[in-house]
Amino acid sequence: MPRILITGCSSGFGRAIALRFLDAGWEVVATMRRPAPEGLPTSDTLRVMALDVTDPHSISAAVAAAGQIDALVNNAGVGMLNVLEGTGIDRARELIETNLIGTMAMTKAVMPAMRARQSGVIVNISSSVTLRPLPALSIYSASKAAMNAFTESFALEAAEHGVRARLVLPGSAPETAFGRNAVARMGMDIPQAYARLVETFLQSLHTAAEKTTALDVADAVWRAVTDPAAPLMLPAGADAETWFRDRGQPPRPLPATSNGNGNGNGNGNGNEDRTSPPQPRNRAPR
Ligand SMILES: NC(=O)c1ccc[n+]([C@@H]2O[C@H](COP(=O)([O-])OP(=O)(O)OC[C@H]3O[C@@H](n4cnc5c(N)ncnc54)[C@H](OP(=O)(O)O)[C@@H]3O)[C@@H](O)[C@H]2O)c1
Repeated sequence: MPRILITGCSSGFGRAIALRFLDAGWEVVATMRRPAPEGLPTSDTLRVMALDVTDPHSISAAVAAAGQIDALVNNAGVGMLNVLEGTGIDRARELIETNLIGTMAMTKAVMPAMRARQSGVIVNISSSVTLRPLPALSIYSASKAAMNAFTESFALEAAEHGVRARLVLPGSAPETAFGRNAVARMGMDIPQAYARLVETFLQSLHTAAEKTTALDVADAVWRAVTDPAAPLMLPAGADAETWFRDRGQPPRPLPATSNGNGNGNGNGNGNEDRTSPPQPRNRAPR
C-alpha cells in the first residue's frame, strides 16, 4: 500500500487531502503542529503525527517515524491580508519561513530516500494569487510565487533521480478557516491610507461568482500524485481554472535530463512511469 505524508492536516485542504487518499486505500501520515485527530476517521491506515515545518527537529523526527514515503504534500501554510506598509517584517519573515522555507526543508528531508529508490512525488500547495497581482497580498503572493519558482527548478533536479515535483494552485476557498487563521496569527491592521483599496478588494473577493472547495484541491492533489502525465502546475477550483486560462499557462515541458529519465513532468513522452509511486489495487484511474 503506498504511503503519503501531508503537512498541515489540522483543518481545511490538508484534512480533505488526507480523507481523499484514505478513501482510495492509501496509508496516510497526517501531520499537524498540535496532533488532534478530530475531523479524521479512526483507521488502521491513518497515523496522526506532530510536525511543525519551521522546526528542523520536528521535521527529522516526523520523517524518521513515518517510514518510507511515496508521496509528500507540502500543504502547511499561513496567509496574510495586509499591505506592505501595514506589515511588520518579523511577520513577513514568519510567513516566508512557513510557506517557503518549510516546503524546502520538508522536500530536502524526504529526498534522500526517494532518490535512493528512484521514485516518489512531491506536491506543493501554492495559490492562484500567483497568477494575478492583487493588493493586500504582496507578501503572501511573494511566498507562493517563490514556491512556484523553487518547484519548477527543483523538478529538474528531482526528475534526474526519478522523483516528480508538482504544483497545485487553489483558488479562493472561503469554506476553510484560512482567512480567520491568517488574521488570528498575522493580524490585519490595515493603515488608513490603504483602507479604501483593501475594502474594494475584499468586496470583489466576497462577490466573486467562482470559488474553490477543499474537494477541488483534494482532487487536484490526487491527480498530481497518481497521474504521471499531470502537468507541472495544476489549478484547483473554478476561479483558479479561469485565472489559469486567462493567464494562458500551457503545461510547460521541461528539458530532458541527463540520465534518460525524461522530464517527469507529464509531457506524455512515456518516461514518467518510473517516477510514480505504487498504486493501490482498488484505485479507479482518473
Ligand atoms: N483557503 C484558501 O483560500 C487558499 C487558497 C490558495 C492556497 N491556499 C493554501 O492552501 C494551504 C492550506 O490552506 P487552508 O485553506 O487549508 O487553510 P488552514 O485551514 O488555515 O490550514 C493551514 C494548515 O497549515 C498548518 N500550519 C501553519 N503553520 C504551520 C507550521 N509551521 N507547521 C505545520 N503546519 C502549519 C495549520 O496548522 P495549525 O492549525 O497548527 O495552525 C493548518 O493545518 C496553505 O498552504 C494555503 O496557503 C489556501
